[in-house]
Formats: sequence, C-alpha cells, structure tokens
Amino acid sequence: MAIQVLQPKFRIDETLEQIRECLEKGWTGMGFKTQVMEEEWAKYTGFEYNHFLASATAGLHLALEVFKREDNWGEEAEVITTPLTFVSSNHAILYAGLNPVFADVDENICLSPEAIEAQITDKTVAVMYVAIGGNAGRYDEVVELCKKHQIRLILDAAHAAGSKLRGMQLGQEADCVVFSYQAVKNLPTADSGMICFHEKKFDELVRRLTWLGINKDTFARTAAQGAYKWRYDVQELGYKAHGNSIMASMALVSLKYLEEDNAYRRQVASWYEEELANVSGISIVKHTNAEESSRHLFQIRLQGRDELLVFLNENDIYPGVHYVDNSEYQLYSEQAGKCPISAKASDELVTLPIHLNITREHVSLVCQKIKDFLNA
Ligand SMILES: Cc1ncc(COP(=O)(O)O)c(C=O)c1O
Repeated sequence: MAIQVLQPKFRIDETLEQIRECLEKGWTGMGFKTQVMEEEWAKYTGFEYNHFLASATAGLHLALEVFKREDNWGEEAEVITTPLTFVSSNHAILYAGLNPVFADVDENICLSPEAIEAQITDKTVAVMYVAIGGNAGRYDEVVELCKKHQIRLILDAAHAAGSKLRGMQLGQEADCVVFSYQAVKNLPTADSGMICFHEKKFDELVRRLTWLGINKDTFARTAAQGAYKWRYDVQELGYKAHGNSIMASMALVSLKYLEEDNAYRRQVASWYEEELANVSGISIVKHTNAEESSRHLFQIRLQGRDELLVFLNENDIYPGVHYVDNSEYQLYSEQAGKCPISAKASDELVTLPIHLNITREHVSLVCQKIKDFLNA
C-alpha cells in the first residue's frame, strides 16, 4: 500500500455525533459549535481571545488588517517574512496591501533573528514568523527583537497546534497567533482555523471583519429578545471568513485527541531519528528549541533530493517538499537571490511520511529505501 506523506485520522462516530447535534438543532453556521470550539481552544492554549475561522489563510490576512487599522500602517509598510513557507503566509501580506520583505532562515529552517534584524528599516511594521513543521526555531530571540524594535509579531502556527514552549502552547508572546485546522494538519477538519489575540479590541474587530463588517452575528441576533433583534450596523468593509458549526464539530473531536496524536507523531519522529542517525549523505532538521514540538513534519536534507523522490515514488512511498523557496514563484521573483540559505534548503528538503497511520514498520521501510538509494 502506498505510504503518503501526510494523512488525517478522523474519529468518525464521535465526529458524526457532534455533526448530528448541529443538524438536529438546525444550526450549521457560525455560533453554537464555533463558540464551544473557541472556549475549548482558550482552555487548551491559554490564549484569551480566540475566533474560529474558515481558514488560516484568512486569519493571517485579517491579523495584518487588524494591526494595519490599529497602528495606521500606510502603503509603504513592510512585513519581514520567510521565503520558505506555504504561500499563504506571504499572500496574506499582499492581501493586506503591505510589502513582504524576505529574510533568510537558519538551520531550523525558521527565520533567523540576525537575518530579520538586517532587514529592519523605518518602514518595518511586523514580522511574520512561521513555525515550520511545529518547530519553534529561535522564536524567543525573535520575540525580543520585535520588542526591541517595537514591531508586531504574528506567528503563523499553521503547523504548530500543540507545540509547547515552557509547558505552554507556543506563541504566548506574539501579538497574534493563527492556526490551521485544514485536512492534513495536526488538528484536522476539512478547512478551518483559529485566530488568537490577547486584546479584546482586536478580537472584536476581527469578528466584524470575518462577518462582512456586521457588528452582531446571526446567532447572537437569533438569541436576542425584542422587536429590533434584526437590526445591526455595518461599520467597515469586512469579508466572509468566519468558520461554521460543521467544521467546529470536527475540530472539537480532533482537539480531544490532539495531545495523544502529537505524542504519537513525536514517537514516529524519534523512530526516524534513531534509524537515520548514522546515515551519511543526509542531515536531519532537528526540532531542538521547542520543548515539545507538534511534529507536523519530519524533514531531512540531502543533495540529489529530486532523484531520491523519484526512487521512493517507484517504491510506492510519497514524501513531500515543504517548501519551495517562494522567490522561485513568478509572483515573488523580484526577491530571488536574496536568501541563499532558503534557496539551498528548498533544493534539499524532503518531508518523510509522518501521521497517525505510520507504523514502526513503515518507518523502517522508508529508512531502508533511503539507505538503498544512498548506497546505489
Ligand atoms: C505554513 C502555513 N501557513 C498557512 C497555511 C494556510 O492554512 P489554511 O489551509 O488553513 O488556509 C498553511 C497550510 O498549508 C501552511 O502550511
């Protein structure tokens, strides 16, 4: 059977039971289960204000929209970001009418604090920090850097649901943290996410922005009393980006198993580390700084990556690549050549299969095939 790089595992009966409640109540939209999910996420992460979204992509965009309005950022404003990410992190900056400025990564393949500092100018307003694969990288130093320069820190935690630093969900010090609950993430639904702030005013604004600028959601209006419960105001041009109760039903069940699932992912990662420890010709991307990584990804690096991928595919093993240097894409090509460490990593990275259906035997088979390739 084919071994795929990422794959969700759903607790089907429990999930259907949650969805059944929505169908019986006749409420599948925003409100009801989305509220429960927001409360459960607050308890799990310690973040004060949590808003359930249609996707992390929407969340990253709206995080920037919120701060743009709050801090009066103009057209010149620059956000320092990584070229080694899924395009959502960087598209979000463009959606908000801001300017992405690439800085290079370090051996964690997360942004390097030195590289960030070298890009800071009087136009810099924020850093978009991506915890690739759940790895914190040098997050603490980036927090200090952002404080020193008084710029906002947005954590793209699409991969980092359950990554812990000092026993707490990673991101406590960031101005905003955005999670993805897309189908192959650690907390899988079909498509959804969460945006988390420390301040109520940001949460209130983002809730208006995800619901077309309307100041009262339909669930609240349905519950309200009186003749004017249909009345609302539209204070700004918002979007349609909130999550719904079907996705929240899925998320609630996935959240229940997140700790257990992440522990299993760490087990899979340690099997790979054990089997590949003394193999020459490859290096392992270590998750050293997070005390407890979500282990969304397990990545190795090697020269001849593309040939390895072909060889593994021939053996019914389908690894992935996270990510191609975004400056290789036409849209971001103006910044090509600026980040040599990212460019090199982009040619060398391989994500080995890691998910809840991967067994010890799968790990041994994948590692044996990698060794066969290297010895051929
Ligand atoms: C690093 C990163 N950021 C953002 C996203 C966007 O997440 P979503 O699919 O929930 O919009 C992804 C999704 O793959 C991602 O990998």
